[in-house]
Amino acid sequence: MIDPAQIKKDFPILNREKNGKTLVYLDNASTTQKPKQVIEAITNFYENTNANIHRGIYDISEEATALYEGARETTQKFINAASKSEIIFTRNTTESINLVAYTWGEKNVQKGDEIIVSMIEHHSNLLPWQFLAKKKGAHLKFIPIKDDLTLDIEEYKKLLSEKTKLVAITGMSNVLGTIAPIEEITNLAKEHGAHVLIDAAQTAAHQQIDVQKINCDFLAFSSHKMLGPTGVGVLYARQSILKKMPPFLYGGSMIAAVELDSAEFAKPPQKFEAGTSNIADVVAFKSALDYITDLTFNEIQKHEKELYKYAISELSKIEDIKLVTPPEDQAGPVITFTIKGIHPHDIAEALNSENIAIRAGKHCTDPLHKHLGLIATARISLYVYNDKQDIDRTVEALKKCIKIFA
Ligand code: ALA
Repeated sequence: MIDPAQIKKDFPILNREKNGKTLVYLDNASTTQKPKQVIEAITNFYENTNANIHRGIYDISEEATALYEGARETTQKFINAASKSEIIFTRNTTESINLVAYTWGEKNVQKGDEIIVSMIEHHSNLLPWQFLAKKKGAHLKFIPIKDDLTLDIEEYKKLLSEKTKLVAITGMSNVLGTIAPIEEITNLAKEHGAHVLIDAAQTAAHQQIDVQKINCDFLAFSSHKMLGPTGVGVLYARQSILKKMPPFLYGGSMIAAVELDSAEFAKPPQKFEAGTSNIADVVAFKSALDYITDLTFNEIQKHEKELYKYAISELSKIEDIKLVTPPEDQAGPVITFTIKGIHPHDIAEALNSENIAIRAGKHCTDPLHKHLGLIATARISLYVYNDKQDIDRTVEALKKCIKIFA
C-alpha cells in the first residue's frame, strides 16, 4: 500500500516551509516534484560519467551511452513497445506531437483530408494540427463532450469516414480529469484506416500504458509530469511508420553518410535525435520510471482514487464551490472547480498564502473553457505524495478564502 508519509521523505522540496507551514503541492498535472533518487541520478551523472554519447571511444563516453540507451530500454518496457528503436527522446510532449505533425503529417496529410481531435485537448494537441490542416487544406473535426463532461463517442463515430487521416486524442483531460476510452477510439479509427496519436502527458504517471494493446501509431508523454526532470519527452511511434517518416531536425548524430550535396540518414531512433541529447536528464528519467514501477500502478491508482473520493466529498460540502468534474468512475486525479464571486487567480493567491500550490487559469485549454462558459478555473491535481492532510488544509484555506471575499 502507498504510504504518503513515507513517500514524502523522498521529496526534499516538500519540507519547504512558509510561516511555519509545510508545502502542500497540488499542481501535479502541471509538473510533479522530483524524488531524491532522480536528483541524485543527475548529480551522479555529472560527477562521474559526463561525456557525449554515441561518439567517444573512452570509458566515460561508453558508460554514458550505456546509461542513455538503458533509459530507452526502460521506457520501451514501461509502455510495452515492441522495440527499443520505437522510442524517441524529445524535449517534451509538445515537441513529440510537433515532430509527428512536421514529418508524418507533412508527408501524409493532403488537401481534403480530415484530422479528428476532441473538445478537451490541451493546446499542444490542437495547434500543431490546426497549423498542418491550414497548410495542407485539410479539415479539423472535433469530438464533442456530453453534459456529464465525458467524450461523446456516438458523435465521434459519425465524424469518422474514409477522409479521416488521423485521430489525435488525449488520454486524460488536464482540466476535467476525464479519461478517454482510447482503445475504443483507436479501434474505431482503425476500421476507417486512420492513424491514431495518443497524447499521454496526463496519463503516463497514473495508468499502465501498453501501446501494443492500445494499437495506436503514436504516443507522446513528458518526463517532468511523472517524477522525472524537465526537458525530456518521449515519442513512441510504430517501427514501420518511423522507417518511412522524414527527419524532423537535421544535423549531427542523425546521419549514416554525408556528401557535400546529399546525406543518407541513420535508422530510427537516431534519425530523429539530431544534435547532442539531454543526456543527464534522460538518464535520470530512468530513475523516475523505476520509482513509479516500484510503487506499481495498481497501488498508485488505489491511492489516487481514495484521495480523489475524499477530496470530492470534502469540497462538495462547501456550498459556494462548483465542481467541474465528470462521473467518478471516468475521472483521473484532477479536480477543477470554481467559487461563486471569486476569480480563480484570487483563489490560488489565497491558497498560496497558506503554502498550498494549485493551478488557476485556462490551463492551456481556451476552447474548452469557452465551451463551458468559464473565464478561468481553479485546479487541484493529485499524486503519490499527497495525503488527506493536504486535502484538509486546502479545504480549510478555501473556507477562509470564501469568508474573506464575502
Ligand atoms: N499541461 C500542464 C497543465 O495542465 C502545463 O498544467
